[in-house]
Amino acid sequence: MSTQTTHPGAAPPFAVRPTGTADQAWVTEMVLGWGADFIITRGRKVRPQELPAFCAVAAGGERLGLATYEIAGADCELVTLDALQQWQGVGTALLEAVRGAAAAAGCRRLWLVTTNDNLDALRFYQRRGMHLVTVHHGLRETAARLKPQIPLTGCFGIPIVDEIELEMDLDPAPPARPPAAGGAAEEARR
Ligand SMILES: CC(C)(COP(=O)(O)OP(=O)(O)OC[C@H]1O[C@@H](n2cnc3c(N)ncnc32)[C@H](O)[C@@H]1OP(=O)(O)O)[C@@H](O)C(=O)NCCC(=O)NCCS
Repeated sequence: MSTQTTHPGAAPPFAVRPTGTADQAWVTEMVLGWGADFIITRGRKVRPQELPAFCAVAAGGERLGLATYEIAGADCELVTLDALQQWQGVGTALLEAVRGAAAAAGCRRLWLVTTNDNLDALRFYQRRGMHLVTVHHGLRETAARLKPQIPLTGCFGIPIVDEIELEMDLDPAPPARPPAAGGAAEEARR
């Protein structure tokens, strides 16, 4: 997806665009913010820096946030979402970009996991149409095995023990319009 969207919020307006090679070092730095060069999702190690992604960029070029995602058949997982400046619409715009990319790729479901302590994220996603699906227990065992960097305690002093899965249905991308009776030239004049 190459279109840029401008969001004239209270903060400096920003655009959302797919990441490119020039963003790679920054993307890796963002991923390291999660404690390692990989994240854990449903017992799996994933390297978000190797996935397709969108970033939000201010008019002056400052990067404001990152969303990475992975498409597998009809499912798209939102793997990471980070807004460096919160409450300015960055997270919403990035979520929308991923949702659009997933629908355009023919996905029927957008899903993610977050940890049980992340009340802000749980609020954010539910306010944007995502539903709670499942509580996956056993995160501590997974952490001990795969990522000891996952802290014992998270937001608001809540012990981090579970992954909570959320999802939303996606509308399929509209089918391409059939060519008009007059052919391509006629279509181009419309
Ligand atoms: C969760 C997270 C991505 C949300 O991103 P965000 O950029 O703060 O989200 P938004 O600004 O789009 O929306 C947050 C609120 O700000 C409000 N908002 C958006 N633009 C605004 C503006 N210009 N002025 C005032 N408020 C605004 C929104 O209405 C929203 O409130 P609501 O949820 O009650 O509707 C962000 O908090 C974050 O990066 N958290 C840390 C990383 C994390 O936990 N990621 C999720 C892990 S799965």
